[in-house]
Parts: sequence; C-alpha cells; structure tokens
Amino acid sequence: MAAKKKDQKETGSKTIRKVKVVNKDAEMLEKAEEKEAVKHNIKTIGVLTSGGDAPGMNAAVRAVVRTAIANGIAVKGIKRGFSGLIDEDIVDLNSRSVADTIQKGGTFLFTARCPEMITTEGQDIAAENCRKHGIDALIVIGGDGSFKGCLALKERGINVIGIPGTIDLDIACTEYTIGFDTAVNTAMHAIDKIRDTSTSQERCSIIEVMGRHAGYIALWCGLANGAEAVLTTELYKYEEQKLINDIQTKRKSGRKHYIIINAEGIGDSEGMARRIEYATGMPTSATILGYLQRGGSPTCKDRVFASAFGAKAVDILLKGGSDRVVAYKNGAFVDFDMDEALSMKKTLDPFLVDMLGKLTRKGDSRLMKNEGMLPVESDESAGKKVIGVLTSGMDAPGMNAAIRAVVRTAIGDNMKVIGFRRGYSGLIEKDYIEMTNKTMSETVQRGGTQLLASDCPEFITEEGQLKAIETLKELKIDALVIIGGNGTMRGGLDLIAKGINVVGIPATIDLDVACTEYTIGFDTAINTAMEAIDKIRDTSASHERCSVIEVAGKKSGHNALWCGIATGAEEIITNEYHDQNQQRMISEIISKKKLGKRLHLIVNSEAVGKSASLAKNIEFATGLETRATVLGILQCGGAPSCQDRVFASAMGGRAVEVINSGGKNRIVAYQHGEFTDFDMEKAMKLDKYPDAYMAEMSKKLAR
Ligand code: F6P
Repeated sequence: MAAKKKDQKETGSKTIRKVKVVNKDAEMLEKAEEKEAVKHNIKTIGVLTSGGDAPGMNAAVRAVVRTAIANGIAVKGIKRGFSGLIDEDIVDLNSRSVADTIQKGGTFLFTARCPEMITTEGQDIAAENCRKHGIDALIVIGGDGSFKGCLALKERGINVIGIPGTIDLDIACTEYTIGFDTAVNTAMHAIDKIRDTSTSQERCSIIEVMGRHAGYIALWCGLANGAEAVLTTELYKYEEQKLINDIQTKRKSGRKHYIIINAEGIGDSEGMARRIEYATGMPTSATILGYLQRGGSPTCKDRVFASAFGAKAVDILLKGGSDRVVAYKNGAFVDFDMDEALSMKKTLDPFLVDMLGKLTRKGDSRLMKNEGMLPVESDESAGKKVIGVLTSGMDAPGMNAAIRAVVRTAIGDNMKVIGFRRGYSGLIEKDYIEMTNKTMSETVQRGGTQLLASDCPEFITEEGQLKAIETLKELKIDALVIIGGNGTMRGGLDLIAKGINVVGIPATIDLDVACTEYTIGFDTAINTAMEAIDKIRDTSASHERCSVIEVAGKKSGHNALWCGIATGAEEIITNEYHDQNQQRMISEIISKKKLGKRLHLIVNSEAVGKSASLAKNIEFATGLETRATVLGILQCGGAPSCQDRVFASAMGGRAVEVINSGGKNRIVAYQHGEFTDFDMEKAMKLDKYPDAYMAEMSKKLAR
C-alpha cells in the first residue's frame, strides 16, 4: 500500500511489489519534517469540510489536527465549509478537540454547500479572511465542487490541499473517497432487509441509492446484494420493456423476488414501480434510501483511509507542496496537482461491470437450464470443462460470494462445477456435490462457507494427496479452484507438483497472503473487531479502566494496525512495527493519567499475544483496573461486508476467466487497483508486511 517502489519482483506477466519494512525512527522523521515546515513557512493550517457530509470526515479532520500539532503547526477549524470562512466562523483546534471523534458519523465542523463561494466577491472575502486569521494553508475535505472553491483561493495566493470526501466515489483521481465504504455498507444492509420481505411477499422491489450522477453505489450494491438488475446512468439504456420481460420470465420460472437497484441519476423509482406492477402483475414497491446512506459511524476502512488522507495532506504541506489533491491510487497514498485532478475522467470499473453482467445474466438460457427452468438436450453435457471448487482452512466471510461467482460464471461459460466439502478432506473422502445455480442462490449475503472448511492433517501425507488426486482424475476435473489462506495455497502447490491445474483465491481474515492487497474476509473481520472495540472503549471510558484487546492475525499485525487506528487506540502492538516494552507503556499510562487522560486502549495482535499477563502487569503497576479481551474467532463470523461481497465475487469470476483462457497454476489477486493473477509458486515465495506509512501515522495520531 505505501508507495515503496523498491524491491519489485516479476511474477508471471505481472509485477509484484515485495514490501520490505524500513522502520524509520519516528522522532528523526518528525524533526526532518519540522525543518521542511519552517522552509515552507507554514505556521497555521485551516481545515474545513464542505458539500455533502460523509462518514469518516471526522477521522480526516482528527488526523489533520494531530499530524499538524505533532509538527508544531497550529490548526484552525472552519465551520460549515466555505460559509464559515466567509462569515469568519473559525475556532482553534487542538489534540483534545478531536478526541473521541474518530468513531462518529457526520462532521463536527458541520458542512454546507456555499453559493457565495461561486461568486468573485465571495472568493475574495474567503481569501482575505484566510490572511486575516493567519491561515497559511487551507485543507478542504469535500468533493469536486469544493475543489473548485480551492482553485479560486489558489488563484488568490492561498496554499490549498484537497481531500476527497464524498459518498459518491466520483472523484476521478482516486479509487477511494471518504464515506463511500460506509455508505455502501449502510445501503447494502438496508437492501438485505428489503430482500427478506420481498421474498416473503413475492414482490419486486426497486431500491434507489444515492450517488448523484454516478453509479458506483448502485454497482457495488448490485453485486453485494445479488440484485437481479442494476440501473445506472453509465449502463442503463432506458429499455424498460426488456426489464419487464425479464421480470416476467424469472417470475414464471419460480423466482420469488426481483430486486432492482436504481441509481439516483436515473431516479423515477416510484413511477417505474407503478409501470412494472401494471405490466407484470407482480406487486412492486419503491424505496428511496436517501440520507440514510450519509449517516452512521464510519466503517474501519473509512476511519483508516480518512486518517491516512488527513495525515498525508499535512505531510504534503510539510514537504513544501501546495495545490494538490490527496488520493489513493494503485495501492498507494499519493497526490495530484489540483487542476490536473479536476480535469480527469472516471468510469465504472469495467471488470466489476462485466462481473455484474455475468452474475445477473438476464434470462440466460444456460443458467435457466441449470436451474431446471428449461430442458437440457442430452448432447449438451458432453465435452464440458469440469472445475472443482473447495474452501479450506479457517473460514472467512465472503467465501460464499466467491463460490457463487465461480459457480455462476463457470455455468454461464458452459462448464460443470463440482464442490468439495470440508476443504481437502472432501477430495480425500470423495465428499462432493455438483454445484448448480440454485445451490448458491441466497448465499452472497451469508457468512461462513456453504462448502464447509476445515484443516486436513491427512492431506499433508503423501498417501492423502494421492487419494485426492485419484478423486480429481475420477471426476475428470480440469482445474481445481481453492479458496483459502497461505496453508490452503501450500496444499495447492503440492497438487501442482503432482500435475493438477490449481487456481487459488486468497481468503483469510489475516490479510497475510503476500501477492495481494486484499484477501476475502479481512474487511468484515476488521469491522467486526472495530465494532467490538468501540463498545469496549465506551465502557472503559465510563469506568475509567484500561483495556487490552487482542485481535486476530496469526503471525501478522494487519488486523491490529487497522483496528488500532480505527478505534483511536493509545497503543498498538504488532511484531512488525511496535515497541513492546511494557515498562514504557506503563510509564506512559501513568503520565497520561496524571494529565487527567482517562482512556487507555491497547490493541494487541494475536502474534504478540499474552494479553492477560500484560493487563495484569499494567493493573499492578498503575493501580488502574485493567481487563483483557481476546476477540478470537468472533472475527471469522458474520455477514460479509460490502467490499468482501464485491471483491470476493470479482475474484471468483477472475478465477474462472483464468481457467477459460488456459491459465495454469495461478493465484488470483487484487494488486495496484486491479483484479489480476500471478504464478502461484512464485507468489507464495513473497513476504508481506503491514503498511509502513499507516504504522508511522498511527504513532502520531495516538496522542
Ligand atoms: O454528494 C453526496 C450526495 O449525498 C449525493 O449522493 C446526493 O445526490 C447529494 O449529495 C444530495 O445533496 P444535498 O445534501 O445537497 O441534498
């Protein structure tokens, strides 16, 4: 993730970054940055949130404030966006003013759309007020409209930095905008509920999601909710009769509901519902989700990425940069010239659009034959490619979405799919079923794995592997798709060595598969942990107790780092980056206690462990009641998050594409902003560390 360009490794046709950690001494880094700030002569930064509010804006403001203060720069908060600048509604901010804000939705600085900022007069006043209040640089958190306001200030000699904050994801220079992740999860959970009642009442439901003119929220929800149709300005050709025909066909064939996700840019959901009900006779209702999507506590990704954006914005100023937009692109936090950023164009991810097409396949005859809706001719099954699929090791939320995508895209591509139960045990014990489109219906939203997953000690033996190969040969399996973590992939390598074509899909809540920036289940797991830690934090604050919370991750610290940042923990403990000296921790707790600071939240990684004894030592030395909580397998469960459903679906589809195009022994990955695949053997030799930029940032924010 961090932009470490060195140590590139070639694997197959793609480049894999091998991230080596150079854990620079934080103090030296801060001193160097201070010098830069003096060079740039920035003594005071102003920060404002503008346009539509988005969950995560508070996390960004907090990071701006704490990073600036850590570098000796004062911060002024401007209320209600540019309106507050024009009306001089400006307050001083310090580290304490942003305490307890990271988990809160909305923006504590308030936000507004400011028509005056479009006028020359308003722009002149805004620039003048920056000077009057000693604001040397202004950080603006908002969308494209807000950045246009920045450009007007830039022309008037003010240093500006833009941070993309909008639930719409429609800022061209970046793959991430603050609030999108929370908004799609909120919408997805609402649609899950609407789907339940739609099935019970055999109803067609049109759900209108936000996004202004862009269809990102609709596209992601379409994939995550397993919708039958998705209408966006980018994709929909206003062929309502086609939609009606599809509803009628699916209804006749026994489909209980029909979910249409309609983007705000298309609108007219009420009218559409009336017309569909009239034409099909199917009860049809419209639900407009509206502002619901803008509220709520931010997700883990929104808190972490928004924090990184805030810290990055200050870092740019410290290094003498100005008139830049912070962005996340190709797996790294980067920045672009503001004029250039505003002139860029963005389209929906073509791979996700393609996947959506494959997974919805309106009236596709192959899927209908597979579901028993149409008769199958006897010669149709001859010569079909057969693929096997299994989930192995620890289960991870999103595995079902991946299996479903494998099954649907493979059947759509005229293949036959065999599912093996309980991972490699299913191969050894010949425990399998033929997967049909129906087997995986209503599973995208479910946690766990329909195929079950377990460790298989017998598979480590030569005898076990030979039995597995016998099953694969007997069933004439052309390629085996394995879904799991590093252990599962190592099993795959054993099969590859014996001549089996294996395609791996990385699925583990630990994020520790080296060739990919994403593994199925991580996103859900960090949200589950974060929500639990939020609760522990509330009770710890009320009770004035210290809490040590141990999160999953096996040998890696990804979970601890993300959850620690997202919950504003005072201490994060990982093997990769953090000082584990208990005496130092205890001294810091004692000195903070003297300063009247009540909360001491420590997020520990499973790799470091020993949380109970750490808690005991802290309690003994500080006199503070200290409790340890080990979250354990809680993190493996639950309904998958939106990202896990969408990315798992994409990875499942990619695996089938690899097989279809003759790829052998590959592992699917998400790397540098795209779904791709690598040679499995080479990929499994790589190492991976949690993001170094995030680790440095976390130290500055925990103040
Ligand atoms: O830009 C975010 C957004 O929520 C859009 O999705 C929506 O079209 C718009 O804001 C609503 O704007 P307002 O807050 O002005 O009603």
